[in-house]
Amino acid sequence: MSAGLAESAPGHLALALTVNGRPVRIAAEPRSHLGDLLREGLNLTGTHLGCEHGVCGACTVLLDGEPARACLTFAGACAGAAVTTVEGLDEDEVAAELRAAFHREHALQCGYCTPGMLVAARDLVLRLPAADERRVRIGLAGNLCRCTGYAGIVRAVTDVIAARRARGIGPETGAARPLGPVGARLGETVAAPHSAPARPARMAAPAAAADLADTFAPAHRFAQAIELAHPPEAVFALLDDIEAVAACLPGAVLTGRPEPDTVEGGLQVRIGPIGATFRGRARIQRDAAGLSGRVRGAGSDAGGRSATEGEIRYRVGPGATPGTARVDLDVGYTLTGPLAQFGRPGLVRDLAGRIATDFSRNLDARLSGAAAPPPAGLNPLRLALSVLRARLAAWFGRA
Ligand code: FES
Ligand code: FES
Repeated sequence: MSAGLAESAPGHLALALTVNGRPVRIAAEPRSHLGDLLREGLNLTGTHLGCEHGVCGACTVLLDGEPARACLTFAGACAGAAVTTVEGLDEDEVAAELRAAFHREHALQCGYCTPGMLVAARDLVLRLPAADERRVRIGLAGNLCRCTGYAGIVRAVTDVIAARRARGIGPETGAARPLGPVGARLGETVAAPHSAPARPARMAAPAAAADLADTFAPAHRFAQAIELAHPPEAVFALLDDIEAVAACLPGAVLTGRPEPDTVEGGLQVRIGPIGATFRGRARIQRDAAGLSGRVRGAGSDAGGRSATEGEIRYRVGPGATPGTARVDLDVGYTLTGPLAQFGRPGLVRDLAGRIATDFSRNLDARLSGAAAPPPAGLNPLRLALSVLRARLAAWFGRA
């Protein structure tokens, strides 16, 4: 158990952390996110919650000095951390300059996005070497505003940067992390010049498939089913073709030539500006008589700080009408490290549902002899927006 984290009442964690410079002790359910902890537990309602999916940026706070999505951060992961909300920036010099510039440039209307926008903008003012509109826009790309059209916000931020640099106040140095919130992969770090090509991320050594224990108790599990307009035997045969399956699976890449029972590759996950590619190995078992199989894998993200382990069990059976198939999937997974935010069950289920829709459409196309689907790319924006749309529709009773 990490520093600042202790067992509390049954089902709760006792957390010790620092919020806006003050030590805080508070009990939280393990599933609570930091946004709820701040708003409900500490009455710090300046942190706004919009999408609760990491897309809109309204909940952005500083976590150990870095902008982070409070809605995607487990409260339990903040034990021992220093959290700064917009309330904690009252006396902050940069925040004061930004507030004045936002006022001057009409950079807010309803103000819902403003707390997160200020936290993200403050990070840019501290770190960007010059008032570069393009880089300001990139840095704010993870903060959505439905009112202003962004022009005033961008002007306010560039003005503050220009004024500070003109007064001889340089940027903070040594921050090699990308612009944007924790986990952002926007292809640009503060240190990178404009035209520098994105450098490939350093990949952690994938887990050896042979090291994977047969027994696995996942932290989360969910079921998913896809329907295909082709006979079960044909579907099962296609699932035996790893390269074809990878080509049909959005975000999947193969990094080694697949062997009969092992495969090496990765899966890209992206929500709003936050993205990660998990790379690793998987072992494949198949039962031709039962038209079923199991894929058991493990991997880690580029920095090796987050790891995932999981298994997919599948069974192909007859579909609702003759000549069609239904594939039942049972997915179990455990995600640890800073990117455990992607492991929230509701989020994973939403994304999995949309990935499954694209996957089954691509499988259908392949089984119909249509041209091979385009390279398996995850359309992160479309996925994120469709998740957001579904959530909003559900909230407003139109799902
Ligand atoms: Fe956290 Fe939208 S509420 S990103
Ligand atoms: Fe209303 Fe930005 S000012 S959402």
